[in-house]
Amino acid sequence: MNTQKIGNAIIYHADCLDAFRKLKPNSIDLIATDPPYFLDGMDDGWRDDNLKRKKAKANAVGGLPIGMKFDPEQGRRLQGFFSLVSNEALRTLKPGGFLLAFSQGRLFHRMAVAAEDSGFEVRDMLIWEHNGGQGKAFTQNHFIRKMEISENERKRMIAGLRGRKTPQLRPKFESILLAQKPKDGTFVENWNRWNTGLIKVDFLLECQQTTIFKYSKPIKEKMIDHMTVKPVDLMERLIDVFCIEGQTVLDPFLGSGTTGVAALGMRRKFIGFEVEERYVKMAIERLKKFL
Ligand SMILES: C[S@@+](CC[C@H](N)C(=O)[O-])C[C@H]1O[C@@H](n2cnc3c(N)ncnc32)[C@H](O)[C@@H]1O
Repeated sequence: MNTQKIGNAIIYHADCLDAFRKLKPNSIDLIATDPPYFLDGMDDGWRDDNLKRKKAKANAVGGLPIGMKFDPEQGRRLQGFFSLVSNEALRTLKPGGFLLAFSQGRLFHRMAVAAEDSGFEVRDMLIWEHNGGQGKAFTQNHFIRKMEISENERKRMIAGLRGRKTPQLRPKFESILLAQKPKDGTFVENWNRWNTGLIKVDFLLECQQTTIFKYSKPIKEKMIDHMTVKPVDLMERLIDVFCIEGQTVLDPFLGSGTTGVAALGMRRKFIGFEVEERYVKMAIERLKKFL
């Protein structure tokens, strides 16, 4: 396992479950992360080359768009994996500390149950409202054309299903699990002992912070060649609300390093784990600007 220190950040090139074991109990103030979802087409090492090759075919009639093959096993695998992550998250967070984990609408429940069964208190579902993803619903015309039926029957079926598509609405948000490690006493006692457990409630444009965080998706920068880059300003906002200056933020699924960039930018310390070497390098490059 390689580790690299860049200013106030430490990056582990490792599987998160191995790296977690290096951390002491009750040592982390906030975990903010965007775990892998076990998408179809993506291998266990989270290499996305296969997916990228599929991208070209994504709109071909008859081929399911990337990541949209509906497989209930995906959720079960995610829950099993996230249970192991949650056990370690619970051990390493300080009492009262928060776990923020991104997910999709159809997978949120799996992550919430995994965290709850590990001992977290599920506090809420936050929403990252963005400027919209790819519309993935498609018609059944291609399948009807392949059916061995008369031409008249084919025309009748296609006409009958006009305006009908598969149940995939265009996504406009990602859910974020907000879970809390049980407090050590009351909110005040916990705050006095650990400086965790209470959130910052600001008045943004004279509106109290709600469960909805509205931020645009990052514009594809040349340097960030990662499929699921989160916006830095969203991560900064979450870090500002859920921990205080000088505290330590952990992202066990670092990817291109966005959480680290946001944490250092917000004057926190940062620890990141990432299993893929090229993403470790990418994250380190992004963090170097804080040296
Ligand atoms: C959804 S991406 C995170 C993207 C990140 N939020 C960003 O803005 O770039 C999840 C990352 O977790 C990494 N990963 C997957 N399994 C892992 C594991 N077991 N341990 C550590 N990292 C892992 C993947 O390589 C991928 O880069």
